[in-house]
Amino acid sequence: MIRLAVLALLAATPSFAQSPQATIEARQANFKAIAKAFKELNDELKKSAPSLAVLRTAAADLQKSSVRIAGFFPAGTGPETDLKTDALPAIWRNPAGFTEAARRHTAAVDALVAATRGSDMAAIRTAAGAVGPTCKGCHDSFRKPQS
Ligand code: HEC
Repeated sequence: MIRLAVLALLAATPSFAQSPQATIEARQANFKAIAKAFKELNDELKKSAPSLAVLRTAAADLQKSSVRIAGFFPAGTGPETDLKTDALPAIWRNPAGFTEAARRHTAAVDALVAATRGSDMAAIRTAAGAVGPTCKGCHDSFRKPQS
């Protein structure tokens, strides 16, 4: 029982007891999951008759990964490790700014999840459109520019 509780805690807080490399890999996998869910959602919205069930699942998947972002950046997992990461030192120099960028993102995703509970496609589209800028908003300041 106690062991199970400890395992659950470790799963919920990836920054503890993991090597910098494992943490970086887990956060990159989490961003891949975020991008996948967001793409599924946007692809569905391009259809003439989007499926609410697909939209709800994609939004829930996106939310599950989005809330985990902020926990994946413990000190000692930046470019100073010489490991393969696009995280910029600004994350640790400006933690309040980074936390705010993550908060804006999860707020937009929460609003999207709420919109998918209804069936108003226009509202869902608007909510989905508000998420993309929160990805870019964080990347612009905290992720190495992509070539
Ligand atoms: C609060 C900041 C933040 C938000 C919000 C954010 N990202 Fe990122 N993203 C990053 C950082 C930092 C990295 C680099 C991580 C690393 O390499 O260690 C990254 C990396 C990625 C990657 C590359 C993962 C890999 O393969 O290495 C993808 C894809 C990505 N983000 C997509 C998205 C999408 C799509 C959204 C919005 C739906 C989003 N991100 C929101 C900060 C953010």
